[in-house]
Amino acid sequence: MELCVIEGDGIGKEVIPAAVEVLQHLFPDLTLHPARAGWDCFNDLGTSLPDDTIELARTCRAVLFGACSSPSFPVDGYFSPIVRLRRLLKTHANLRPTSYLPVPASRAGVELLVVRENTEDLYVGDEQTNEFGGVAHKVITRAATERIAITAFKLAEQTGRKKVTIIHKANVMPHTDGLFRRVSFEIAEHYPEIETDDLLVDTAAYWMVKDPTRFDVLLTPNLYGDILSDMAAAWGGGLGLAPALNLGEDVAIAEPVHGSAPDIAGKGIANPTAAFLSAAMMVRYFWSMNETAERIEKAVYKTLGAGIFTSDIQPSGAVSTIDFTKHVIAAL
Ligand code: NAI
Ligand code: MG
Repeated sequence: MELCVIEGDGIGKEVIPAAVEVLQHLFPDLTLHPARAGWDCFNDLGTSLPDDTIELARTCRAVLFGACSSPSFPVDGYFSPIVRLRRLLKTHANLRPTSYLPVPASRAGVELLVVRENTEDLYVGDEQTNEFGGVAHKVITRAATERIAITAFKLAEQTGRKKVTIIHKANVMPHTDGLFRRVSFEIAEHYPEIETDDLLVDTAAYWMVKDPTRFDVLLTPNLYGDILSDMAAAWGGGLGLAPALNLGEDVAIAEPVHGSAPDIAGKGIANPTAAFLSAAMMVRYFWSMNETAERIEKAVYKTLGAGIFTSDIQPSGAVSTIDFTKHVIAAL
């Protein structure tokens, strides 16, 4: 088994080595291929995503990605490496589950999955400054919508979920979001045993705060999925616990939802749970080893259930990233 490991920036350099330790414990024969990407890489090599990294990711097909710091202002030559990598590897789906976890901030009864289209929408990066301000292209194609809708309904079917909610703003954007809604409902017809409804994204945001237990699968275009999955992450206990998997035809990128967390980077206190659970998603959905994935998840639940927390969960009595990792490995 081959794994391309991209730590990235900030706490990526802390939580990804921890996740690698967990994987190595389970798969002693795992071959690791470290590769660079991100802001530090840009400053060292002049690119945020070197060709070598792209090539390595392509040949390994399984990638564990930390997080990259991307400035919120234009920097000549810089682009977000993860957004680019998702498109280059054609990982058309971004799966972001939120489940109840035994930590104080988590909400009982939450068991939802955001299935986010991962290659288009406003994230195509076609954005310019003109004399009036800025303009960005929003792209929603029938092909990509069909693909993500099929993924959502198939996953719902395979995992025994009951309902898919299509998220859009078709009342304001009938040509883009309207297409997303229409095509998703077309695909839904092939899955009559799964209940399908739809919600405007703002209403979905309201319900995500008011009562997240009403959601099962959320099928979303790129931008809304990005935002709603961070909101959902709060119900799982916080960003430090929220996993994700980018899934393509024959390739997957496991990637926690959180970013590089510059406010806590380098302190050894980052929560590696999101990285562990992302690795578990790789094991389940890409390597098709359900029992091994469950072992990781159960070890995490056991550790959290014993009240062993990093400081994002509970500041008093908090353990370090390294100690939390030791507890999880012991629980494996
Ligand atoms: P962030 O997710 O890095 O941090 C938000 C807050 O959550 C911070 O207070 C942070 O300390 C906390 N947090 C996040 N993950 C944590 C963990 N594992 N353990 C403990 N606390 C954790 O989001 P922020 O601050 O908005 O972005 C920082 C940088 O990350 C930006 O440059 C942004 O572009 C980048 N980013 C990169 C992503 C990626 O590469 N996939 C995804 C999201 C953001
Ligand atoms: Mg995000």
